[in-house]
Amino acid sequence: MDGTIYLSDYTPYPFDLDQVHLTFRLAPSATRVLARLHLTPKGEGASLHLDGEDLKLISLGIDGTALQPADYLMTETGLTVHAAALPEGAFTLETEVEIAPNANTALEGLYMSNGMYCTQCEAEGFRKITFYPDRPDVMARFHVRIEGDLPVLLSNGNAGASGQGWAEWDDPWPKPAYLFALVAGDLVATSGKFTTKSGLEVDLNIWVRPGDEDRCDFALESLVRSMVWDEEAYGREYDLSVFNLVAVDDFNMGAMENKGLNIFNSKLVLASPETATDTDYMRIEAVIGHEYFHNWTGDRITCRDWFQLCLKEGLTVFRDQSFTRDVRLGPVKRIEDAATLRTRQFREDQGPLAHPPRPNHYREINNFYTVTVYEKGAEIVGMLKRLAGDEGYRRALDLYFDRHDGQACTIEDWLKVFEDVTGRDLSQFALWYTSAGTPHLKVTDTYADGRYTLTFRQSTPPTPGEAEKAPRHIPIALGLLDLQGREVLSTQLLEMTEEEQSFSFDVAEKPVPSILRDFSAPVVLQREQSPEEQAFLLAHDTDGFNRWEAGRSLAQRTLIDMTTGAEPAPAYLEAIGNLLADDTLEPAFIAHCLALPGEDELAQAIFAAGGTPDPDAIHAARNALSKAIATTHETRLAALYDALEVKGPYSPDAEPAGKRGLRLACLSLLTKLDGGTRAKALFDQANNMTESFGALSILIRAGLGQEASQAFRNRWQDNRLVMDKWFMVEVAACPPESAVSRARELAQDSAFDWKNPNRFRALVGGLTANHAGFHAKDGSGYAFLADWLIKLDPMNPQTAARMSTSFETWRRYDATRQQMIREELTRITETRGLSRDLSEMSQRLLG
Ligand code: BES
Ligand code: ZN
Repeated sequence: MDGTIYLSDYTPYPFDLDQVHLTFRLAPSATRVLARLHLTPKGEGASLHLDGEDLKLISLGIDGTALQPADYLMTETGLTVHAAALPEGAFTLETEVEIAPNANTALEGLYMSNGMYCTQCEAEGFRKITFYPDRPDVMARFHVRIEGDLPVLLSNGNAGASGQGWAEWDDPWPKPAYLFALVAGDLVATSGKFTTKSGLEVDLNIWVRPGDEDRCDFALESLVRSMVWDEEAYGREYDLSVFNLVAVDDFNMGAMENKGLNIFNSKLVLASPETATDTDYMRIEAVIGHEYFHNWTGDRITCRDWFQLCLKEGLTVFRDQSFTRDVRLGPVKRIEDAATLRTRQFREDQGPLAHPPRPNHYREINNFYTVTVYEKGAEIVGMLKRLAGDEGYRRALDLYFDRHDGQACTIEDWLKVFEDVTGRDLSQFALWYTSAGTPHLKVTDTYADGRYTLTFRQSTPPTPGEAEKAPRHIPIALGLLDLQGREVLSTQLLEMTEEEQSFSFDVAEKPVPSILRDFSAPVVLQREQSPEEQAFLLAHDTDGFNRWEAGRSLAQRTLIDMTTGAEPAPAYLEAIGNLLADDTLEPAFIAHCLALPGEDELAQAIFAAGGTPDPDAIHAARNALSKAIATTHETRLAALYDALEVKGPYSPDAEPAGKRGLRLACLSLLTKLDGGTRAKALFDQANNMTESFGALSILIRAGLGQEASQAFRNRWQDNRLVMDKWFMVEVAACPPESAVSRARELAQDSAFDWKNPNRFRALVGGLTANHAGFHAKDGSGYAFLADWLIKLDPMNPQTAARMSTSFETWRRYDATRQQMIREELTRITETRGLSRDLSEMSQRLLG
């Protein structure tokens, strides 16, 4: 493909850039950016290339002298000063450019949101601000001066001098341009203080638009918790005297770790009991942690090039997951993370977009911020930790920070610290980073003469461009249980490195194995298991993850059988009854066990087993099983529903949130039988968004939501974030046969501001989340998505490209559906003027 960039083409930048001075003269349609770059050539004879896009060049000079047109070459993507025009030794390059933040709808570079200026530079947005070597391995110290008649003017680092209409900022830490940030607006702060372990006093500010300041307390508390945790768990302290965090309404992603000035999508900052759900609170805490943890894993140590993205993202996701596990319910969090990985990352690996966590080529890097890079990247760090042990992991991380502070690194640098600390050879392990696909692990067992033997066989299905797969190094956590459910072998780590490998244990009777505890490796386990054995593990496994997993696979098998007319498996219904009666279990855990596998997950499983998923049959099976559970256990569910009521003022803590979660799960089942009486009552009484929105979703799903939905909309029409939820649930929970028409209707609604990424994702993502609705037989769901991608692309290519991944599962379905999707994808690729983002995606999707 043309314009493809290859990892193997990496060459270092031929200049050192130690200091950068930037001056911003802010104006909505004509902002001036003056840049002074102090450059030193590393060798001789190199020309100077600077990236730059959509910039109007006003002036260009070196050491005070203007350059002549013959001295440089300007193209659509940058500017090259010929070697002959450069002085010998160090010099200062001065540029002035003009940009138009108010015309920037792509939300990349400097743009405006509600009258406020803000930036998003990762991955390659800085080149839309000024001419610059916009690559992560060029790290410089930034001094920034902002001029503009707005009350709050922020940039990275520590505050310098300021006056009426201007402010200066100094960032003492060298950083790549993608970590640059600027914010200017009429903002108010919720502030706090933090003193680091070594006594550095830090001012903390959460900046929001006036009127939003009453929803910032939780964000501030989360920030403090993150700072404490990173000191304790990783020995990492903050390194500036101020930490600013700003919430903006128009943002392509969740949040961004700019040095000392994190910028967040407002949905990941603003929370009050009335407007945010338990899930929102949990997400806010996790994302604030994530961006904060980047200060060390991303900012102090960054990536050499964008192929190394999972060096910072995989590690930082691993860190935020560990943080949440430590401050909330650990085992339940692991279940959630493993479940996300399996539904979303395995799905990516199964389709045309499969790629290694460290890819070796791309056209548009924005398309590689994927579940594979993030979530699988985090699982790889988890495997390294299992292999190195807790203590070895901590020593490896200490060495990593010690050895690489201030550097732009590679995955090889990262693996080397583990090799040096543990003395292991990780060359086979490195395949996890460099190779795509999900290994399948077939397990068989035998028992004879007191010896129990487990035999594993691994194989990885081919992925685009990778037909042959070498065996991986797989850590398998194993426990053995006796028939009374007692552990005869507590968890131990087996290391599989061959294609086929056996492990034996001396035990008095044939045990029940509990394999891949805590989901110790991101693989698909394939094992012949009776429903009775699954029910046994669901009742007895001492590993929380595997206990849930046993119930999950039992539910999955039952549902798949039901899609072809089977009755619900009695073993499953009975196991659910036992769970509901077990008051030693965490409510949050029971809630996760009650939640049936999603429709998309079932389609994935049917396809993986060689079948062709029928979306309507899957939807019907799921409804029928819910109804069967409700009918079988009505009394228990009703009693639980009453007993689980959380009284008193709302708290987002794990314990009450777990109770609410289970209570809503019970409500959802009971609504199959009570005509919506309970859900309506809860909707009317609820004093928090978790219950109000939970009840609303249940009512809509049951086709009983009209009145509640109207009331909800009336109450929240002025709250953008709550209205996003409303748009989403209206379509996502809508009965599938009317999902597309509901989506079309809402797309005409005056409140549907499609240029706002949150609102766009709420509506269009709402439809794609409605599996049977999106896959409507007539292809109307596919056409709706394609129409909107084509419409959004010229405005906001990044978000359009990201949403196109909803098509990645197309080869799972029947020939008619495949044909319809192929036509829509072809229509997209043939659209004139398509962005690089969406054109790369649609071509890869077509395969
Ligand atoms: N560095 C990213 C933000 C980013 C991603 C900027 C892609 C530009 C392009 C940030 O650290 C991040 O990963 N954010 C996630 C949330 C996180 C908790 C996984 C996001 O925005 O979704
Ligand atoms: Zn990140």
